[in-house]
Formats: sequence, C-alpha cells, structure tokens
Amino acid sequence: MGASGSSLDILSIINQINLKKKKYQFVGYLDDNINKVSKKYKNKVLGKFKDINKFKGYYFAIGIGNEKNYKIRKGLISDLKIPTKYFPNIIHPSALINDDIEIGHGNIIHAYVTISRDVKIDNFVNILPKVTVNHDVNIKSYTIINSNTVISGDINIGENCYIGQGSNLRDHINIGDKTLIGMGSVVTKDLEGNFTYFGNPAKIKA
Ligand SMILES: CC(C)(COP(=O)(O)OP(=O)(O)OC[C@H]1O[C@@H](n2cnc3c(N)ncnc32)[C@H](O)[C@@H]1OP(=O)(O)O)[C@@H](O)C(=O)NCCC(=O)NCCS
Repeated sequence: MGASGSSLDILSIINQINLKKKKYQFVGYLDDNINKVSKKYKNKVLGKFKDINKFKGYYFAIGIGNEKNYKIRKGLISDLKIPTKYFPNIIHPSALINDDIEIGHGNIIHAYVTISRDVKIDNFVNILPKVTVNHDVNIKSYTIINSNTVISGDINIGENCYIGQGSNLRDHINIGDKTLIGMGSVVTKDLEGNFTYFGNPAKIKA
C-alpha cells in the first residue's frame, strides 16, 4: 500500500527475506496518487487502495505514514476492511528480536532493529532501521518509530504516534496517542497525546 517512501523500503526487506528462503512474491503497489509516484515505479502500480478487494487471498503491507499524514493511518487501514491475517509481520533478517516478543499483525521491522525482552507490539507498527527497543515496552497500533531512535525500558507508547529519527526516550514514561516527537528529541517525561514535541528536553511545539 503506497508506491513511494516507506513502501519501497518494505520491498527491500521482502527481497532480503526471500534471499534467505523464498517466502513472498511481489505483485505490485496500490496507490491513490499515481502522479506523485516516481517514473521508476509507476508501471508497478496496479490500482488505488479501493481496488484492494480485487486481490482476494493476497497479502498486503502498509507503507503509508510520514510526519504530515501519520494520523490518518488508523482510519485508512480500518477502511480497507481486510482481516489483519492478510497483513504479515515483515521482519528484516538482520533484526535481533528476543523470542518472547508479543506481536500482532502488519508490523514492519527494518534492518538492524534490536528488540529486548517482554516487549509487546500491537498491529501496523513500523519500526525503521537501527531502532533499539529495550525491555518491558508496549507499542500500540499504527505507530511509526524512525531510524536510530532509542526506547529505554518500561515505556508505553500510544496509538498512531510518529517518533522522529534519532530520538531518545527515558525509561518509565508514557507517550499518549497521536504524539509527534521531532527528530533528535530527548524525551524525559510523560507526553500528553495529540501534540508535537521536540528538543532536549522535549517540549510542546508552540
Ligand atoms: C518537529 C517537526 C515535525 C517540526 O516540523 P515543522 O512543523 O515543519 O516545523 P519547522 O520545520 O517549521 O520548524 C519550526 C522551528 O522548530 C525548529 N525545529 C524543527 N524540528 C526540530 C527538531 N526536531 N529539533 C529542534 N528544533 C527543531 C526549526 O529549526 C524551526 O526553528 P526556528 O523557528 O527557530 O527557525 C519536524 O522538524 C521533525 O522533526 N520531523 C520528524 C522528521 C523525521 O524524523 N523524519 C524521518 C523521515 S524518514
């Protein structure tokens, strides 16, 4: 779902998985805005999101979500009305994940992500390269955690958040739903949802 940005990276993960053992066959992208798709990928676009029903029995991966549109992820995915079992967890072979992880469906875990013990990840979470998730962390659905972020232990991250690259979250804190954390932020306290924060220490963007 989506033929730019993150979706293209998801295809790279799929290719890496297939190199180990052939698991998926890539068929194409669905995208609502063909004009914004780069020429290189246009011929792989098979239709719009509403055309998902033409692909019964296929598997899907969600690549939609940036700092401008991350809040629509929940609605967009729910509107597809496709059972979550058709969204596999796509995990890069280089990710180091503790074997007690509790994980739902449709999560994308990129290269060199490290996930420690007692971590729970709901559905449709996108964890970008080199993120570190320490012990006892809960990550709710639809959240995106950008590259090189470090999540300390005992943290709850709400639904539909967007955590900017290279952020650092102190242990024992709670991040509310729909929080945007700017790149490089140092988060030292609980953050109330629905606001944008950045800086060291992270504060609400005026
Ligand atoms: C926080 C953020 C959402 C703000 O974006 P914005 O609303 O467009 O804000 P602007 O770029 O207009 O910046 C407003 C001010 O905040 C500063 N600022 C923006 N982001 C900042 C950050 N992360 N840390 C410190 N200062 C920041 C700007 O320098 C600017 O300062 P000024 O008013 O003194 O000139 C954005 O900068 C950000 O960090 N996004 C996440 C990016 C990311 O991780 N992308 C991953 C892509 S793979």
